[in-house]
Amino acid sequence: MFFPSLFFIDYVFYIVYNYNRNKNKIMWDDTMDKILSCNNLTKTYGKDGSFYALKNVSMHINKSELLVIVGTSGSGKSTLLNLLSGIDKCSSGAIYFNNKDITKFNEKKMNDYLKNNIGFVYQSYNLINELTVYENILLTCSNKKEIDTLLKKMNLLDKKNAYPKNLSGGEQQRVAIARALSKNFDVLFCDEPTGALDSKNSEHVLSILEQLVRKEGKTIIIVTHNNDICKIADRIYTMKNGQIIDEKVNKTPVAVKEIRW
Ligand SMILES: Nc1ncnc2c1ncn2[C@@H]1O[C@H](COP(=O)(O)OP(=O)(O)OP(=O)(O)O)[C@@H](O)[C@H]1O
Ligand SMILES: [Mg+2]
Repeated sequence: MFFPSLFFIDYVFYIVYNYNRNKNKIMWDDTMDKILSCNNLTKTYGKDGSFYALKNVSMHINKSELLVIVGTSGSGKSTLLNLLSGIDKCSSGAIYFNNKDITKFNEKKMNDYLKNNIGFVYQSYNLINELTVYENILLTCSNKKEIDTLLKKMNLLDKKNAYPKNLSGGEQQRVAIARALSKNFDVLFCDEPTGALDSKNSEHVLSILEQLVRKEGKTIIIVTHNNDICKIADRIYTMKNGQIIDEKVNKTPVAVKEIRW
């Protein structure tokens, strides 16, 4: 027998249930994909804040993505990386890491974010001159065996007890990379990580970064002036005058070993 009123209640229940289910599903998928994003991010300098290093930048980084940022010198690439990683503070805008606005973090939460979620290879290396290569890495990793493994991987084992001032630019850059890789992270920011490296070392470092994304599911952002590095990326943003002026999706990224560096 057919009961119209019961049928109606079932029908309403079905609609509401599916609406909520799908609503939550979309929200969940959406936030899972984007590990990091920003809205209208602005950074000004100068007494009156009249110089815009970044102007209303909105962008995102997908989980397990290799994202490359290119652009002319002074276009705001390092500024953007410094803000997304929490190293510097924005003038206005919001930055979401796993759906949480990091610009609202207190000191403790920000320290946790820097310690547990972020890795950074600085454009200017940021090594501590008074510490040896080994001691520089010891700052972020207490596992001595792991430090040796990383130094070996970076072909720096013989420089373990050297001070930064006695290293070449390329060697210092490789120490900076080893230090960044020595800590656990979800997102690794690399500000021109191969700027001082020869082609052989560039290829080696890029292969390591590529493996971290493709095999370990890490998320990596590389700022570069090298157009060849764009070929290995999943997506490329181009910056100019503090803004993102172009976005390209690379559906068929080339493997590092396929490129002639
Ligand atoms: N502390 C600061 N005070 C004033 N201006 C700054 C400061 N830091 C950066 N800028 C300016 O902000 C702009 C963006 O700088 P940023 O370092 O982000 O450029 P970039 O794209 O990384 O350049 P490059 O490719 O040369 O590294 C530049 O014009 C720079 O001079
Ligand atoms: Mg820079």
